[in-house]
Amino acid sequence: MTTLVTGAGGQVGRAALRALGADGIGLGRAELDVTDRAAVLAAVRRHAPDLILHAAAWTDVDGAEVQREAAQQANVEASRFVAEAAKAVGARLVALSTDFVFDGAKRTPYVESDAVQPISYYGETKLLGEQAAFDAYPEGTWIVRTAWVYDESGTNFPRLVLRLAETRDELRVVEDQSGSPTYAGHLAPVLLSLPDVVPAGLHHVAGSGGATRREWAEAVLTAAGRSTRVVGVSSDEFPTPAQRPAYSVLASEHAATPVLPPWRTGIEACMAGYVA
Ligand SMILES: NC(=O)c1ccc[n+]([C@@H]2O[C@H](COP(=O)([O-])OP(=O)(O)OC[C@H]3O[C@@H](n4cnc5c(N)ncnc54)[C@H](OP(=O)(O)O)[C@@H]3O)[C@@H](O)[C@H]2O)c1
Repeated sequence: MTTLVTGAGGQVGRAALRALGADGIGLGRAELDVTDRAAVLAAVRRHAPDLILHAAAWTDVDGAEVQREAAQQANVEASRFVAEAAKAVGARLVALSTDFVFDGAKRTPYVESDAVQPISYYGETKLLGEQAAFDAYPEGTWIVRTAWVYDESGTNFPRLVLRLAETRDELRVVEDQSGSPTYAGHLAPVLLSLPDVVPAGLHHVAGSGGATRREWAEAVLTAAGRSTRVVGVSSDEFPTPAQRPAYSVLASEHAATPVLPPWRTGIEACMAGYVA
């Protein structure tokens, strides 16, 4: 079975290719710009995969507020192109979406049937991307909403925390945002097997349990053997161009949707392979 991975240079793409070994074909941005419709179709026809993991996306949440057209192309149009191409060759498509489709007003985990209401342009484009893929290829598309993704080497929150801890005894970390920290190494294998275990449609898959950013930072520092103090602060202290949901913990309401290990287990697994 052949699996084609878009966004092969990103956190999820890299983890998927590690899990796939010789069965994986990874196309990074240099090999395939997913906003180029003809190129997407040509690449998919050339490789004729059984499964496509669409991991390419515009993921700069703050940048999306200003570079709206580019974010829209990468997250909405590209989703449509990849879904059309998957349909053309009869490949199953697993595409990623985000907890940022929610406004964060709930205080219990968001499930698939909860009302969406993005509060950032990134969240809006990801939601439109979900719809574009479903419209193009409803019978063959698995959309997976995940959250707070990190790995050993990407641009991510745990690595930022560890970098800051090298020069500071105390870190001030936002306490009024809760989510589901998700280790790419736990997520990727589940994405690849999802079409074998659940019907096409929308699925929430993220590290189990919820954490505030402060708790996440503390767990990362503990796993790294650091004694840096963490002080919880309001997000007002760190204004950003894009608004983030105050609460976006994810869970699935579908009994058959795989459940990832607890978020703390993900941190321990990641730190075991951490590259400074
Ligand atoms: N990271 C998170 O916390 C998070 C949370 C929820 C959902 N997700 C979703 O999960 C998926 C994977 O995220 P990730 O964490 O692996 O993100 P990532 O590390 O930023 O990887 C995304 C990859 O997509 C590539 N890309 C961007 N535009 C492209 C284009 N036009 N053509 C081809 N490739 C392009 C990027 O290349 P460049 O590096 O060259 O830009 C990057 O390698 C995305 O759909 C994201 O929205 C992520």
